[in-house]
Amino acid sequence: MDSTLRDLIELIETPESTAEDFANARLPEAMQAATVHRDEEHMFDGLPFEERDPRRSIHIDEVPVPDPGPNEVLVAVMGSAVNFNNVWTSMFLPAPAFQYLGDFASFNPCNQKHRQDFMIPGSDACGVVVRTGSAVQRWKPGDRVNIFGAVNDWASPEVYHDGVKDPHGRAWGFETNYGAFAQFTTVQQNQLLPKPEHLSWEEAASVFLVATTAYRMLVSDNGARMRQGDNVLIWGACGGLGCFAVQMVLNGGGTPIGIVSNERKAELVRRLGCPNVIVQPREKGHGFLDESGRTLSRQILRLKVRIRKCTGGEDPDIVFEHTGRSTFAASVAVARPGGKIVTCGSTSGYDHVFDNRYLWQPVKSIIGSHGANYYEAMQTARLVGKGHLLPVLSEVYPLAGVADALNCMHDGESVGKLGVLNLAPREGLGIRNRELREAVGEARINVFRRSASEHAQHPQKRPSSSAPGTRLRQRVPQADAGSASRALQCRDVR
Ligand SMILES: NC(=O)c1ccc[n+]([C@@H]2O[C@H](COP(=O)([O-])OP(=O)(O)OC[C@H]3O[C@@H](n4cnc5c(N)ncnc54)[C@H](OP(=O)(O)O)[C@@H]3O)[C@@H](O)[C@H]2O)c1
Repeated sequence: MDSTLRDLIELIETPESTAEDFANARLPEAMQAATVHRDEEHMFDGLPFEERDPRRSIHIDEVPVPDPGPNEVLVAVMGSAVNFNNVWTSMFLPAPAFQYLGDFASFNPCNQKHRQDFMIPGSDACGVVVRTGSAVQRWKPGDRVNIFGAVNDWASPEVYHDGVKDPHGRAWGFETNYGAFAQFTTVQQNQLLPKPEHLSWEEAASVFLVATTAYRMLVSDNGARMRQGDNVLIWGACGGLGCFAVQMVLNGGGTPIGIVSNERKAELVRRLGCPNVIVQPREKGHGFLDESGRTLSRQILRLKVRIRKCTGGEDPDIVFEHTGRSTFAASVAVARPGGKIVTCGSTSGYDHVFDNRYLWQPVKSIIGSHGANYYEAMQTARLVGKGHLLPVLSEVYPLAGVADALNCMHDGESVGKLGVLNLAPREGLGIRNRELREAVGEARINVFRRSASEHAQHPQKRPSSSAPGTRLRQRVPQADAGSASRALQCRDVR
């Protein structure tokens, strides 16, 4: 590491450092970043999702440090985290990210810098503001921040109603360049949230994309508005979104019923405090659709019976959906009369089928949800900052290991969240509020960190030479690159 970066990290780790120190700190002209390349955007053409290998498409490059625009800040990124949208970017699905960058650059001259022959993905990060644009008022150099992934166009009237409805809204590090997997990033001032100071850089970085999404889905007036006593069925309860859904339901006085695909994941979800966990294997014979795509009522009925066993005979008031085609028919059918199915994604395919009689007769509703607006993000940050929502970090990778982290998620082997150390030289740095950390408890904060014996039993990082055909399961891209609705669909893949 060169001396400029060493000095900056020392400044960051020194509690007495002032805003002036940061404003005057020397910065490098180039930075390390994980990238995909425009001239490789067709490298996987014709290959199914499971045979696309992020370790082939992700590179570690040196690229220029970007300048912040008037409304932007430059952040020294200490830690970041992997999300499923980054897997899509590394696969060039549903379309190569360079298409989104061109689109983003074209509607505002300030966005021109995003049009490059490289793209840096990543939508969750934590770090320190080191430069501010001329119009930035609320934030100053030295502020310790988390970055929220919604990039809005502040000229869109919709933003003033609900940022999620902004037709020019984009996902940072998915539909924009200069994402989280680099030593520095530029983001809008309205993407900044205060860093929760009882958490380390990598813990704090792992929380926000999924936590803000789950907050809007379950708690916000824009989502399912969960009430005390509600039974909430949570698909993929051991994944990033699912873990925060479990915590929010418990915090709000509801009863979570988690669904996972194996006993190892069930045990982890129980550790989060979820009293009811259903293991629903994904092998043939356990699905809810037959081979021609029709719903299998008998399988759905079986699931209903298992749910009722957990709830004392009640059906779910809310179903938390992101798994998509393979589960949606069951989600609609098992919700109670008047119940809500809230969905933000379609990991197993976006062309859902379900028996509509289960929707209209019992007057249920389906609620679409996407990310969160800035207000919802701030409400989530408040809960995290008070220790009411805990990180679910399971593994931490170096910046040079981003491709391995993406590969682990692509293979469906990840649990909770996978973190990345960007500028942070090691894990466990950046904690300032030791009192709150102690009150929350190390054991609870580290609930998903794996012990050495668990690593030995479930090795996650498979050797790079493993054949792509041996991947554990298949995910279906949520939008077909050739689809006429690409522009709309691609925004559903965060
Ligand atoms: N629109 C938005 O704002 C937004 C935001 C965040 C995420 N998302 C989307 O939501 C999805 C989940 O994100 P995540 O971060 O939670 O991913 P994740 O950490 O990989 O977790 C997803 C979980 O879903 C389960 N799953 C996967 N395929 C399944 C299937 N066919 N049937 C049943 N369960 C399945 C897996 O658990 P088991 O192995 O236990 O089944 C996995 O743990 C992704 O598609 C992502 O793109 C959307």
